[in-house]
Amino acid sequence: MKSINKITISLLACITLALSHGNVTPQAVETKGLKTIDQNSIVNPFRENKRAIEIGKSAYNSNCARCHGLDAISGGIAPDLRELTADDDELDEYFIGIVKGGVVRNGNVYMPPFKAVLSAEAIWSIRSWLATRPAD
Ligand code: HEC
Repeated sequence: MKSINKITISLLACITLALSHGNVTPQAVETKGLKTIDQNSIVNPFRENKRAIEIGKSAYNSNCARCHGLDAISGGIAPDLRELTADDDELDEYFIGIVKGGVVRNGNVYMPPFKAVLSAEAIWSIRSWLATRPAD
């Protein structure tokens, strides 16, 4: 009986952990020190901007890392974003579109939309930081 209770308790602990992991609240990002930009911009205005890179690192780790991996090294749950780093206008447009709108297929949310959570300043900061991450 005792060991069954132990199993039940550790099972409950696992479920609680799994649930709380899936519900990590998106974090607002402080973008002080960056110029205000057009919220509908489709080309990264902060390429190689030092302050943006700094902001982007923490914004990434608090909003994206749980799926895309700490320091952008994917553990396989979601694509490795270091593959998308080239400073390229078309990739910029693709990136901001996905991050704002998320990815939903057949009613399944693969990635949540960040439009209501992150400003364009914050999203481009993440992209600028990703560009500093070498791909393996
Ligand atoms: C809940 C998990 C989750 C979170 C959080 C998340 N993503 Fe994703 N993301 C995914 C998955 C899964 C995909 C692949 C979707 C598919 O199958 O097309 C993806 C795809 C992408 C892509 C397209 C990659 C490619 O190679 O085409 C980009 C860019 C991206 N995510 C950026 C971000 C950024 C930036 C953040 C943080 C602001 C973020 N994601 C947060 C799960 C997540």
